Amino acid sequence: MMYSRIVGTGSYLPEKILTNHDLESMVDTSDEWIRTRTGIEERRIAADNQMASDLALNASREAMEAAGVGAADIDLVIVATTTPDVIFPSTACILQNKLGIRDCPAFDVQAVCSGFVYALATADMFIRDGKCRTALVVGTEVYSRILDWTDRSTCVLFGDGAGAVVLTQSDQSGILSSHLHADGDYSKILAVPGSVCGGKVQGRPFVVMEGNTVFKFAVKVLEEVVHEALTENNLRVSDIDWLIPHQANIRIILSTAKKLGIPMEKVVVTLERQGNTSAASIPLALDAAVRDGRIKSGQHVLLEGVGGGFTWGSVLIRW
Ligand code: ACO
Repeated sequence: MMYSRIVGTGSYLPEKILTNHDLESMVDTSDEWIRTRTGIEERRIAADNQMASDLALNASREAMEAAGVGAADIDLVIVATTTPDVIFPSTACILQNKLGIRDCPAFDVQAVCSGFVYALATADMFIRDGKCRTALVVGTEVYSRILDWTDRSTCVLFGDGAGAVVLTQSDQSGILSSHLHADGDYSKILAVPGSVCGGKVQGRPFVVMEGNTVFKFAVKVLEEVVHEALTENNLRVSDIDWLIPHQANIRIILSTAKKLGIPMEKVVVTLERQGNTSAASIPLALDAAVRDGRIKSGQHVLLEGVGGGFTWGSVLIRW
């Protein structure tokens, strides 16, 4: 049996920290409101000259170093991002060039906060099909560029950052299953509805969101995908060693864990210091738990994402 296996992880957060207290002087909000409604205390903001590919570059270098691979070893680059450097070329092609990786498929995946799960599932299929041996999979976002900094209902939620993994072919265990879903009926509850036409921006180029609808939808599907993954692999909830959910809101994470009966000690949470980093949130949390030694060989790690589209999905790994 051929698997794909994560052999290195990396992350990058921009230097600038924006705290809840900083936001108090920008919009009519309070540290207390943000902390109790979302669990977020601070988030990182990219410098003006930092693009999604720059954040991705730093995270990728760290993941490649951890994996012990060089540019010549990578034969697939997939970047999940909602905030690409430019309309085209893809951020994956820009990253490929910055890393000096030559002649391999490179493309972006746009599935908003589920993007990393979509990208990892896609890379897994390439590897198990024998189409490539070593993939670089990255989630990178500069959400600060698509937020209306006068809209308190959205600007307090998000942050910038990037996480990356290197995935290689393995005959030992690795990714056990992945499940991807989407329902375009819900496309309007979370969106950046603007577009560029004839040199002008048409429609609103900032995040718009029906917070309560998103909340309920997220809790529902985040529970469903866990059961879906467990059923496919004949596992029980108690077999999950680490749950790594998309880091949108602590109340969504707490509700999901409670409904599933998973103790919070088994859930990786990084959103206090990072906010919602969309496609970067899962690889950032994964990297944190790998580097601090929480995730150990042989353990079951379940990644689950949910985001605009609406999209959702899971990747189950035996580490
Ligand atoms: N500071 C202070 N007050 C605020 C703020 C703020 N930053 N934002 C909204 N409010 C006010 C509202 O105006 C409203 O005031 P009103 O009662 O006078 O009208 C009041 O707070 C309550 O607003 P609600 O929207 O009902 O607040 P709620 O408890 O639902 O919390 C939140 C809002 C945090 C957005 C919640 O709906 C939520 O977590 N939704 C999930 C959305 C999410 O996580 N999105 C991330 C992207 S989606 C994803 O990644 C899957």
